[in-house]
Amino acid sequence: MTGKEIKITYKEYSKPEELEKEDLDLAKAAIDAMSGSYAPYSSFNVGAAVRLSDGTVVKGANQENAAFPSGLCAERTAMFSAAALNPDKDIVGIALAAGTGGKLTAKPATPCGACRQVMAQYQTKSGKPVSVIMVGAECIWKFDRVDDILPLIFDSI
Ligand code: THU
Repeated sequence: MTGKEIKITYKEYSKPEELEKEDLDLAKAAIDAMSGSYAPYSSFNVGAAVRLSDGTVVKGANQENAAFPSGLCAERTAMFSAAALNPDKDIVGIALAAGTGGKLTAKPATPCGACRQVMAQYQTKSGKPVSVIMVGAECIWKFDRVDDILPLIFDSI
């Protein structure tokens, strides 16, 4: 037996202004996207913003449904919309923000496993890292690649 270790690195910013401009713009877009959330069941409003290789930003927000599994997270709403509308462009980054009643969560909201898997696939598709920014009121986290939030990514059968 050999003990193995997987190292994950990320950056924590205590103020949004510490982010590079492109990342700050994406973080702001994710906060802005929260206004598109339809969350009558959870009241948890999630916004996401995807950056494409040409700089285009596509927003998404969680959409809930009385038939619960029919709803969709903000990140997948944004990624699927971005990819469907721009099939020839790569997704290079995604930011997300969440809260209730217009108030951001204190700690950054983190993406669910299904959204991580979808991020992973767009990263595999482009062959380039997709950065993930998680926005909270107290701090912001940036992961440079999906591998850092989804180790041992499932690739293909
Ligand atoms: N949600 C997201 O939009 N993104 C995630 O990564 C996790 C959860 C949404 C789904 C649901 O509308 C609400 O948050 C509560 O789970």
